[in-house]
Amino acid sequence: MTVIPSTMMAWKKTKPKFGGFELVESTVPTPRSDEVLVKTHSTSICGTDIHIWKWDDWAAENVPVGTTTGHETCGEVVAVGSAVTTHKIGDKIAVECHLACWDCDRCAEGNAHICERGEIFGVHSDGAFAPYFTIPAVNARHLPDNLPMELASIQDPLGNAIHTLTGGPVKDATIAIHGLGPIGLFAVNAAKAMGAKLVIAIDWDNQTRMELAKKLGADVVLGKDHDIVQTIMAHTNGQGVDNSCEFSGSPNALSNTIHSTRMGGYVNVLSVYGNKMTEIPMNDIVFRYLHVKGINGRKMWSTWDKMHELLSEEKIDIDTLVTHRVSFEDYPAGVELAISGDCGKVVVDF
Ligand SMILES: NC(=O)c1ccc[n+]([C@@H]2O[C@H](COP(=O)([O-])OP(=O)(O)OC[C@H]3O[C@@H](n4cnc5c(N)ncnc54)[C@H](O)[C@@H]3O)[C@@H](O)[C@H]2O)c1
Ligand SMILES: [Zn+2]
Ligand SMILES: [Zn+2]
Repeated sequence: MTVIPSTMMAWKKTKPKFGGFELVESTVPTPRSDEVLVKTHSTSICGTDIHIWKWDDWAAENVPVGTTTGHETCGEVVAVGSAVTTHKIGDKIAVECHLACWDCDRCAEGNAHICERGEIFGVHSDGAFAPYFTIPAVNARHLPDNLPMELASIQDPLGNAIHTLTGGPVKDATIAIHGLGPIGLFAVNAAKAMGAKLVIAIDWDNQTRMELAKKLGADVVLGKDHDIVQTIMAHTNGQGVDNSCEFSGSPNALSNTIHSTRMGGYVNVLSVYGNKMTEIPMNDIVFRYLHVKGINGRKMWSTWDKMHELLSEEKIDIDTLVTHRVSFEDYPAGVELAISGDCGKVVVDF
C-alpha cells in the first residue's frame, strides 16, 4: 500500500510575470467526501499552460497567483472520500478538467462542459504539476482497456479534437484540419480512425508538425507555399470540404475555413483568438448556408465514450504524437520546448 506523505514539492505560479514558477513545499490535499486523491503519473503541457507561463491578459484574469497548474493528467487513486462508491484505491484514471456543478440548466440539459458555474481544474484551482492532487470522483475517468498509463494524460486534447470533428460529419466525409498543433494533429489521426474519406492537414510553416501530420495519416498536407482555399477546392471537385476544423488561432485560417467548406457544410472552431481578429465574412456564411459552431472542452460524457471506443481499438497513434517526455524537475524546459513549437505533445513524468 502506498504511504501518502503529508507534504510534497509542487510547481506553483508564484509571480505574476513571464515564467514565474517555483517548486514549493505544499500540503498533500485531503479528498472531500465526493473526491479522490490521485498520485500523479504524468501531466502533459497544454497551450493553456503556455498562456499561464507567458502571463498574458487571459492568464492574469483567470489564474490566482500561487496556483499549482496542470490539467491534462492521469494517475492512480490512492484515497477516496467517504461518499465515493465509483472508485477504489488502485484505480487508474485520467482527468476531465471541466469541474461542473451538476445542478444548473446547462448541466441539466447535458452540457456540463459549459456549466454556468464551471471551473477548470489546474487553472482556477490547484492541478497536477504536483505529485498528488484531489479531483471530484466524477471527473476521474477510468482508463479504457489497452491504454498504458504513460499515454493516458493526452485524453483532454484528444477529446478536444474528437469533440471538434464530431460537430460535423466524419465517416466518409472530406475534412480540412487547420492548424497542426497537438490538437490539430490528434484531429488528423482521429478523423482517419473514424473513417474520413479525405483529410487535408494545413499548417503555416511548422515542418516538424507537417511531417507528423503525414505520419498520422493526412492525405494532403498544405502550408504557406500553397493557396489554401484553391487547393482545398481542387481536391473536392470545386465544392469545398464537408467539415472544416479550426485549431490554429489564426484569423486568416478562420477565413480560409469559411471559403473552402462546401455549401451547407460545417465549420467547427476550437481555437481561441488573440486581439487581432479580422472581419467575419457573414454573407459567405449566410449564402453558403454554413453551420458554424464554437467548441469548448469535451462533451461529458459522449466525447469520452467515443474516445474510449477508439482507444480500446488502438486506433489512435499516441506514440507518434507524444514527441518528448521530461521529468517533473524539468517542467520549465518542457514549457520552453512547447513554446518553440518544434514538437508534438510534451509530457511531464513524475
Ligand atoms: N476551446 C477549447 O476548449 C480549447 C481547448 C484547448 C485549446 N484550445 C485552442 O485550440 C487551439 C489549438 O491548440 P494547440 O495547442 O493544438 O495549438 P498550437 O498553438 O500549439 O498550434 C497552432 C498551430 O497552428 C499553426 N498555424 C499558425 N497560423 C496558421 C494558419 N494561418 N493556417 C494554419 N495553421 C496555422 C501554427 O504553426 C501551429 O502549429 C489554440 O488556439 C488553443 O488556444 C481551445
Ligand atoms: Zn489542455
Ligand atoms: Zn452546472
